Amino acid sequence: MTTIASSVPVKRTAKSHKHEVDFSNLEFGKYISDHMLVADYKDKQWGEAAIMPYGELSMSPAILALHYGQAVFEGMKAYKMADGNISVFRMHKHLERFNISLSRMCMPAITEALFVQGIHALIETDQDWVPSTDGSSLYIRPHMFASEARLGVKVSDQYKFVIMTSPVGPYFTKPIRVKVEETYVRAAEGGTGFAKCAGNYGGAFYPTQLAREQGFDQVLWTDARDHQYIDESGAMNVMFVLDGKLITPKLTTAILNGVTRDSILTLAREMGIPCEERKISIADLEEGFANGKLTEAFGAGTAAVVSSIATINIHGKDFQLPAVHDGSLQMQIKKKLYAIRVGLEPDVHQWNYVILMK
Ligand code: COI
Repeated sequence: MTTIASSVPVKRTAKSHKHEVDFSNLEFGKYISDHMLVADYKDKQWGEAAIMPYGELSMSPAILALHYGQAVFEGMKAYKMADGNISVFRMHKHLERFNISLSRMCMPAITEALFVQGIHALIETDQDWVPSTDGSSLYIRPHMFASEARLGVKVSDQYKFVIMTSPVGPYFTKPIRVKVEETYVRAAEGGTGFAKCAGNYGGAFYPTQLAREQGFDQVLWTDARDHQYIDESGAMNVMFVLDGKLITPKLTTAILNGVTRDSILTLAREMGIPCEERKISIADLEEGFANGKLTEAFGAGTAAVVSSIATINIHGKDFQLPAVHDGSLQMQIKKKLYAIRVGLEPDVHQWNYVILMK
């Protein structure tokens, strides 16, 4: 999809801090680009958005987001294309999910014009921040939070919508170790697990921290009721290659509907790989390790892209997966995704929102 230029007012920074960035070592989230977009919601409508130098916002400590958690975010990525233009991957799919999350948190929907033109204008403004090295991209973080200052427990009447960007490299630098979590819970059916709301992440910190202390990178969350079925991995969805099939947990209200998950399933099906979205039990994984049919496991997410899982710890015991090689399904899919994003393969699904560089 090729796009028109946008018309959001821009106040440029007098002092870029791009020279402080080590583009050869882009730790996820360490650097924020020079500009941000800000828009306010008041009296039941969105005001004009503006792009300004990235910096602090002045706010009351009584804003409702800080006390009762009305805060929702998205994560998407912009890539430098082979022809020099910039593509934003599946922007409209992210907008759709953002609005689903906002609705669950009783927050006002964002308009397509505000979201799309805002991102377009922000990327144009900070186009020099889009990295061009293999495996790197400009991470885009749109987010909204309740900005009304009031201590009463209520749905806020005022909100701030902010978009920031950050040049990033790989989220994980090597295959990861994950632990199947059977004590703590990320989300229960009927809760907010499918929404990208801040509380889901804050609530996951403690068990994830415990897992880190035990030498794991992430936890594999299981269902809240029985701790029997795999849900997701908090920062990403999870996929397995079992008996030659690509399988991933079927979506429930406790699992984030990942955009990368959807893209991978679409591509895998087109590549003729049998795919299943179904319940995956801990016992299925144990059996797959025992009979050698579980050959791959990986995380799928915007930040994580395709992140290889080397070890799964089940009931306190480590199980190793075979080493990943060029022919591994996850590598084939990762390469294909990248080729589409940078314009080296046809974008038949029109997933790229292309911003033409002048
Ligand atoms: C993403 O993949 O965009 C995420 O939000 C995961 C994590 C960085 C919070």
